[in-house]
Amino acid sequence: MAATNKGPRREYRFHGVSMLTASHPAIRRVKRSDAQPSIHGNKLWHSSFLLIDYLSKHPPEHAGSVMDAGCGWGMSGIYCARKFGSRVTSVDADADVFPYLRANAEANGVEVTTLKSRFEKISGRQLESVDLLVAADICFWDELVNPVFNLIKRAVKAGVKKIIIADPERSPFLEVARRCEDSFCAELLEWRTRRPLSARGTLLILENA
Ligand SMILES: C[S@@+](CC[C@H](N)C(=O)[O-])C[C@H]1O[C@@H](n2cnc3c(N)ncnc32)[C@H](O)[C@@H]1O
Repeated sequence: MAATNKGPRREYRFHGVSMLTASHPAIRRVKRSDAQPSIHGNKLWHSSFLLIDYLSKHPPEHAGSVMDAGCGWGMSGIYCARKFGSRVTSVDADADVFPYLRANAEANGVEVTTLKSRFEKISGRQLESVDLLVAADICFWDELVNPVFNLIKRAVKAGVKKIIIADPERSPFLEVARRCEDSFCAELLEWRTRRPLSARGTLLILENA
């Protein structure tokens, strides 16, 4: 984590949103509570910077209803709520991420709905009302390839208009990306940010017009 001469950084200001780090007092308060995420939802991952940067440069045409899958601390959905006025449902298998998400939502003056669910359990019915499905760094184990690809398949079938998944190019994600190129002509875009932090990876972008 970047350090300043005043100590570790407590938050990033990025494209008009505050992204709280583990050193922020509101996050430290949550850490002292019982909420201990256990499926890697224990910090702000760099892929959410890639996704937010892309969205700021390419605002989606349809973003009335947004789902952030594998939301962790929730910044991708919070950005959509703040910038596009989206109704956001933030989904994660691990309910212990939600107190961290709420601290970030509060810091940004927005509300999002949280839903504890595995990717496998997000139904076509739940996806029918979603315009934009976003996700950052959700495919980090081989066992996640089928659940993530099948979620994308259900989203396409349910008529979700756009799907954007950011990733630091982990091999399970690249397998999902390859399948999405074959099945849905998805686009893969290399993306990087330099400030406020240096991040690089790939965006999987699927237009379902
Ligand atoms: C690496 S973190 C990324 C969090 C957030 N998207 C970000 O960019 O900061 C992965 C998240 O996916 C969630 N997750 C892992 N497997 C899942 C599954 N099968 N269904 C739903 N969520 C899952 C974890 O709990 C965790 O919050």
